[in-house]
Amino acid sequence: MEVKVKVERPEKEKTEALVVGIFEETKRFSREVAALDKALGGVIQNALNSGDFKGKPNQVYLIPSMGKIPAARVVLTGLGKEKEFTIEKVRQAAGRSALYLSGLGLTSFSTILHHEMKPLRGASQAILEGCILGLYRFDKYKTNDNGNSKREITAITLLVDGREEEKAAWDGAFTGKVLAEAANFTKDMVNEPSNYMTPSIMAETAMLLAKNFKLKCKILGRDEMESLGMGSLLGVARGSAEPPKFIILEYNMGRKGKPVVLVGKAITFDTGGISIKPAENMEQMKSDMAGGAAVMGTFMAIAGLKLPLNVVGLIPAVENMPGGNAYKPGDILKAMNGKTIEVISTDAEGRLILADALAYAKRYEPKGVINIATLTGACVVALGKNATGMLGTDDKLKVMLKDAGERAFERVWELPLWEEYEELLKSDIADMKNAGAREAGTIAGGIFLKKFTDYPWVHLDIAGTSWNSKEGPYRPKGATGVGVRLLTEFLMGWKE
Ligand code: BES
Ligand code: MN
Ligand code: ZN
Repeated sequence: MEVKVKVERPEKEKTEALVVGIFEETKRFSREVAALDKALGGVIQNALNSGDFKGKPNQVYLIPSMGKIPAARVVLTGLGKEKEFTIEKVRQAAGRSALYLSGLGLTSFSTILHHEMKPLRGASQAILEGCILGLYRFDKYKTNDNGNSKREITAITLLVDGREEEKAAWDGAFTGKVLAEAANFTKDMVNEPSNYMTPSIMAETAMLLAKNFKLKCKILGRDEMESLGMGSLLGVARGSAEPPKFIILEYNMGRKGKPVVLVGKAITFDTGGISIKPAENMEQMKSDMAGGAAVMGTFMAIAGLKLPLNVVGLIPAVENMPGGNAYKPGDILKAMNGKTIEVISTDAEGRLILADALAYAKRYEPKGVINIATLTGACVVALGKNATGMLGTDDKLKVMLKDAGERAFERVWELPLWEEYEELLKSDIADMKNAGAREAGTIAGGIFLKKFTDYPWVHLDIAGTSWNSKEGPYRPKGATGVGVRLLTEFLMGWKE
């Protein structure tokens, strides 16, 4: 997406379409909208008076300009009631209008959606996020899509009042573009079916990302993982013909201090293994690598923004299959830190691959470790689609993630890790079980992971938030790219 910021009055702007945000039940127009309405002979006021356009969230209204102004058309976009206004409303309105204009076959537009919003930087960021996220489509496997034209929106111009505002708008717009394009990169990986997104292909994708963004990347294969004693991860990998890969990404912009480590679960397909899943909806388990893909997208974003940080990414990538060699319920696995695990369910595989990754993270003496994973169906039951589950041992990290979640509108909600829950995973014959009974499933997952950490740590369960079965504003069906904007906002707020 080409982004421009321009000092220009809307009624003077030459463009295919001018997108203008209007509050519901508005009593007065801003200076810009008043001038535009005057140039158009009062059609905006008229649309409001007649009730044809009410300014409700997600409402759009097309006004052909009939040569009265240089813009070919004006698109009014509802922002909802002024007192209920949030930055998220801008993101949604931007996504809605971009999709509408792309439906008209346009390739560019100019907007003053942000013009009255404070802070201007955040509003500009939200516009680019809404547009780029909302226009995303995963259609590479449609070979004969003649209904859809190949025309798409490739340029967005933000109009601002004066020179002083230009920089804030540009900073915001650039940040929004980088974040949304990184999230779309993650969505592409997650939407990709598992026959095209194996652990090996994820590793290759990471190498390519590293090359393009000047990151360090190292891939550990089975032999190296064996020497390291990653028996927990390798146990999960046994059932699959696809070799496991352990992806290590390193980004360091001039920081000598210890890194923040991001750990992402990447099960490229989760059949459940011998504890096999029901057939219904199993195809969705191609998205069980969404945590790993979110970590990769976050690296794309922090490198694109050149954040002055030291960050390491660890992505264990494995396919969970039943097979002649597969690990079985009752098996005991030994993780890299020497702890033994009695396998109760081969479907609780995510925590097993994360166990070795979390143990591996210790060598960095990290300032903090955030792991992100599609870990439990119980999290979908508890929190649904609107909140990522958060559990962890460090209050400062949790507060930072909560704030970042509000900014990105990828909100997190905390569940407890009280020691009483340790009971859930007591084993008679090993140090722990990998799964308990049905109760407190998300917490049990967190309790398990905690045993492999001895640094400030937070676990994010994105089982509910990483996949959309229904379309939402700027959120097409399928992968959501959740985690990329959350983790990047978190890192943007990181103070050494
Ligand atoms: N990948 C699943 C969790 C999941 C479920 C993600 C639904 C997205 C949507 C995970 O590996 C899993 O199977 N978890 C089990 C754990 C149980 C066996 C302790 C679950 O949630 O049932
Ligand atoms: Mn599973
Ligand atoms: Zn899984």
